[in-house]
Amino acid sequence: MADDRMRRAMIRRYKGLEELSDAAADEFSRLVHDATATRGSCSVALAGGSTPRRLYEILATPARKGKVQWDRIDFFWGDERAVPADHPGSNFRMAKQALLDELAIRADHIHRIEAEREDRDVAALDYQREIARVLRAPSGGKPPAFDLVLLGMGADGHTASLFPNTEVLGERERWVVGLHVPGLDTERVTMTAPILNAARHLLFMVSGADKASALAAVLEGPHDPMRLPAQLIRPISGASTWFVDEAAAAKLTMRPLP
Ligand code: 6PG
Repeated sequence: MADDRMRRAMIRRYKGLEELSDAAADEFSRLVHDATATRGSCSVALAGGSTPRRLYEILATPARKGKVQWDRIDFFWGDERAVPADHPGSNFRMAKQALLDELAIRADHIHRIEAEREDRDVAALDYQREIARVLRAPSGGKPPAFDLVLLGMGADGHTASLFPNTEVLGERERWVVGLHVPGLDTERVTMTAPILNAARHLLFMVSGADKASALAAVLEGPHDPMRLPAQLIRPISGASTWFVDEAAAAKLTMRPLP
């Protein structure tokens, strides 16, 4: 049976990606408002891939952008590909084009992972130090809590750059690591389970029929995080919410909440 912390994850179903993204934009705005009202600032780790693009575009629309205190947010990324910032595959570039450029966010509030650097271990350590500086936590100690972490999930059950059967899944100390992804023959830099699970809110967005098998396995299947790394990501004291569309939810057996 799925681990009970997975079962406690809130699952919200929507017709399609547009409805999912619109609802996720509401939740993003709510969580940012609460964080800035409570702590005066908000730390967000953005997701990469293609699913979150629509969320970012919606947040940047005239109807919505006036509702968020953008100047209180520090933007980080959950992971990055080993490509330059202007490369089409860059997670930074996608979010910059879809969201950040529309909002004129101050450069010192945008914390890009420099995954293109030759020594990715040093790039990862530098990123950990940047997280420690901005979130005011001693680097190397207990991971600080991001107010909000956005995540996607691959059809193989990976999230961020935590891919099946990779060493990074066992990382318990470092907050950020560089890694080679054998299945893709590519290099990445990613946040690890310890810092992701320290988050106050984890918001997964999963859309499309190609994710249906993995989503059912992650949320309802046996606990097997080496095979399904998204099962590793369960907040220690925060909350996790899965925003899924009907195509991705097609193989879930749990009945949606009324
Ligand atoms: C990345 C992401 C990755 C992504 C999933 C889903 O760098 O690609 O961090 O974890 O969220 O692969 O990607 P899609 O949203 O494109 O399906």
